[in-house]
Amino acid sequence: MENRAEFFHENGYWIEKNAICFDQMDELFILFYDLCYSTAVRHGLPIVYEGKLQSPDRVSYPNDLKRLDDLLLSIFCYSKDLIGEIYDTVSYSSTFFRLLSQRNIETISKEVLGVSQHVSLYGWTNRIRIDPPNDERRTYGWHQEIFYTIPESKFIQTWCPILRDTTIENGTIGICPKSHKEGIAKQTWNEIEGRALQVIVDQEIVEKYEQIQLPMSVGDVLFFDGHLFHKSGNNTTNDEVRFSLVGMWNDTSYKAFNTPKPNFDLRGNSARDYFESIFNS
Ligand SMILES: [Fe+2]
Repeated sequence: MENRAEFFHENGYWIEKNAICFDQMDELFILFYDLCYSTAVRHGLPIVYEGKLQSPDRVSYPNDLKRLDDLLLSIFCYSKDLIGEIYDTVSYSSTFFRLLSQRNIETISKEVLGVSQHVSLYGWTNRIRIDPPNDERRTYGWHQEIFYTIPESKFIQTWCPILRDTTIENGTIGICPKSHKEGIAKQTWNEIEGRALQVIVDQEIVEKYEQIQLPMSVGDVLFFDGHLFHKSGNNTTNDEVRFSLVGMWNDTSYKAFNTPKPNFDLRGNSARDYFESIFNS
């Protein structure tokens, strides 16, 4: 078997085939469908009354993936904020934690990071991206993850297709192999109204490297260096949502590691508002 660590250090990435089993995708499908279903019902979306909406106990993976697309896109058209809420719910769901804490992903992360298996990893901003067709609000140019995460940390990024394969058409990830050897490349910091922050590597530096897109099959997991230039493509399909895991595992033994303070903002009423509504109304 090819030496993972050797390949990783040379190329800045590693793809582990068949690292995630079908049952995990199956339960992730139910998670997404269930959250979309309860969101549609809670907000009284038209799809609820059109007689086309199946309840979560009547759908199955992968046969009903198109039903999930339809449901998600109905919610997206109604309110992009609701998609944000589903995205945040998935990130802290028990089902997602089971995927994240898979032993083989942890073991390989430590192996390619070059740390002992006894070192603890700290996960931050692990989430499943939801990219509907032609939604480019969160599409970035060629970048290194180092300026989007804990500064000066030593970390590994994980990325993989969720529920359906990622293809050129639906905007799979692109990478520049060996570009991690650049260290911190020259880049610019761009804050653009209505779009996510963009810290983009200078084009002439990107041009020094081969740029490849990586179509990936469900079950495969990409591990890559925090310095590797990468970017997602655009989802150019008409009606297919792209789901992808974006994970981050930090080496807690690294000298410059600083643990972020968790900072959650409530949606809706604060505890004080609720208290007041009961006792002072
Ligand atoms: Fe990134």
